[in-house]
Amino acid sequence: MPTPRTVVITESSPRDGLQSLGAIIPVTDKVALINDLAAAGTVSFDAVSFVNPAAVPQMADAADVVAQAKQPGTHLIGLVPNVRGLEAALEAEVDGIGVLTAASDSFNRHNINATLDQSMARIRSRLSSVPSEIGVRAYVSTATHCPYEGPTDPARVASLAAQLSEWGVEEVFLGETLGRATPPDIENVVIEVLKHVGPERLGVHLHDTFGQAIANLVVCLETGISRIDASAGGLGGCPYAPGAGGNVATEDVGWLLNGMGVERGLDLTRVAEVATAFCKKHHLAYRSKTGIALLSARDTEQ
Ligand code: HMG
Ligand code: MG
Repeated sequence: MPTPRTVVITESSPRDGLQSLGAIIPVTDKVALINDLAAAGTVSFDAVSFVNPAAVPQMADAADVVAQAKQPGTHLIGLVPNVRGLEAALEAEVDGIGVLTAASDSFNRHNINATLDQSMARIRSRLSSVPSEIGVRAYVSTATHCPYEGPTDPARVASLAAQLSEWGVEEVFLGETLGRATPPDIENVVIEVLKHVGPERLGVHLHDTFGQAIANLVVCLETGISRIDASAGGLGGCPYAPGAGGNVATEDVGWLLNGMGVERGLDLTRVAEVATAFCKKHHLAYRSKTGIALLSARDTEQ
């Protein structure tokens, strides 16, 4: 497969980027983050999750964030772990729904208090309640490694992806939840999944704990995958994946895509400005090397 000419980057910083933080970020700051990144060219947002607030306190204000951030031209996705979350997301009028399972039983149990079979059955029953105009993406987390069970069998991921695809989800996203994978790990699983799901419907959500995410992304792009989650400033983590670092940084992905001649429509310097200001205000580490370089070049020119 040739490298895609255009890609869709979904900006994960408002949801994945913030969900593990202890200090609650005010709604106005979450909304400003979305608005400012939208002004820099971002269209699609992994914006919020509708989950038990006792489990993930940072997402307790999801409905308010959607109400205040909703604007023409942006696509706000709400992640939902169960029926209650789906109802809340539809009531909040999200533009897209994310459902999730993991390829390992243990991660599912820790993350959503369900076995793998239960999580799949719940996804299937929920899909019929989603209005046809709302797209659904399904995450298969722990696609290469599980924090509790170790390496994941690519055949199991492929079988889950095939089922989700047959049930009619618009996109299947492989979640490299831990950020441990190297290109051979990613290649193994992507090749298996592509036997069942076309590259135009397959996305990747890559954490960058071990600094491999850009290398892993190149492997994915070379298979024709054109849907990518990324997070401004490399923010991210998962409360149920101990040791998982942030997501691949949007700025780094944009720089890579520039170099590969792939269209992406983002003002990378502006993304870096927005993310560094956000990180500074909330005492978070800013992790994009591209962003640091772009801002340094901007300062030198001034
Ligand atoms: P449970 O304990 O089995 O649920 O949790 P329950 O039905 O027994 O309810 C327990 C309490 O939660 C009740 O409240 C419910 O009302 C409430 P209480 O009576 O104790 O006051 N509740 C809810 N409240 C708000 N919204 C809801 C909801 N559901 C129940 N939707 C549950 C099951 C799934 C709810 C819980 O385990 C949970 O919320 N988990 C969230 C986990 C999570 O958000 N993880 C991070 C996102 S996944 C991720 O980051 C991976 C990804 O990035 C890809 C990758 O990196 O691989 C996507
Ligand atoms: Mg994640």
